[in-house]
Parts: sequence; structure tokens; C-alpha cells
Amino acid sequence: MAIRKIVTLGDETLRKECRKQEKFDLRLAILLKDMADTMYRAEGVGLAAPQVGVLRRVCVIDVGEGLVEMINPVITKREGEQTGREGCLSLPGRQGVVTRPMKVTVNYQDRRGAFQQLNAEGFFARACCHEIDHLDGRVYIDVMDRELTPEEIEGHIPEDDDE
Ligand code: NI
Repeated sequence: MAIRKIVTLGDETLRKECRKQEKFDLRLAILLKDMADTMYRAEGVGLAAPQVGVLRRVCVIDVGEGLVEMINPVITKREGEQTGREGCLSLPGRQGVVTRPMKVTVNYQDRRGAFQQLNAEGFFARACCHEIDHLDGRVYIDVMDRELTPEEIEGHIPEDDDE
């Protein structure tokens, strides 16, 4: 198990557009394993490669339905809308209210390079949007409706009732 260092806001890596992953090799397998280990250790639900300093279009997500590894993911369909709270391992201690599609379809490649498609809904759809944004140098504060105060992070907010 190798835990990688998660970079935080201010690190320019988070602001760069990632390059397509072309090789489906051992190096990628190690990156994916390390990213999952790092995400679980940090108790996150998603992690994108630029967050560990790798500028490639790779991310991992586990919202409690099992680990999903997405290479070169593209959102091909968006449906509906949800407004709710969102955080990021690269912005520790902060949360914002972000409006995202309720459902998304994502086309991506798996670790062997095979083309896959998944449909995500609710919090899983939110996580897909959040992680894929990272691959284009975007973080949730760029697209949020508002930032939560420390009191709101601990408590209930009106937007929690929407979902
Ligand atoms: Ni994030």
C-alpha cells in the first residue's frame, strides 16, 4: 500500500488540464491502486490524479457502491438538477453548495483500456462531475452557489432538504 500526498488548493497542479492516459500498463495499475488507498485513508469518496500530482485523465470514486476506476472519462449525458453540499480532499475543512445534474452518463476506459459506460444518479452523479472537473483544472469552488460557514458545515442547511 502506498499512500500518496494529496495536494491542496494553491498547488498549480490542481489548475492544469490533464492529458489523456494512453498506456494501460503496470504504471497505471500502480497509480490506480495508490489513488484508491489514498482516497480510503483520507475517507474521501473520490480522488482525481492531479490531486496526487499526476496530470493524467484518471480518477477513482467510491460512494459506498464499490470502487469505480475511470480513465479518460467524458460525460455524454446530463439530466435533471440537484443542489447540495460538496467538499474536496484538496480543500480540507471547507464545503460549498453546488448545483449538479441529477443523472449523468459517463463514457470511460477501464484499467485494461476497454471502453465502458455507466449511468450515475444522485450523490454518485455529483461525484462523477466533481472528479471529472478536476481533470480540467476545475475545483468545486469555481462552480459553487455559495460557500458554507463553519457553523453550517456542522449543522443542517436548507439545501440538505432538496435531495
Ligand atoms: Ni475534489
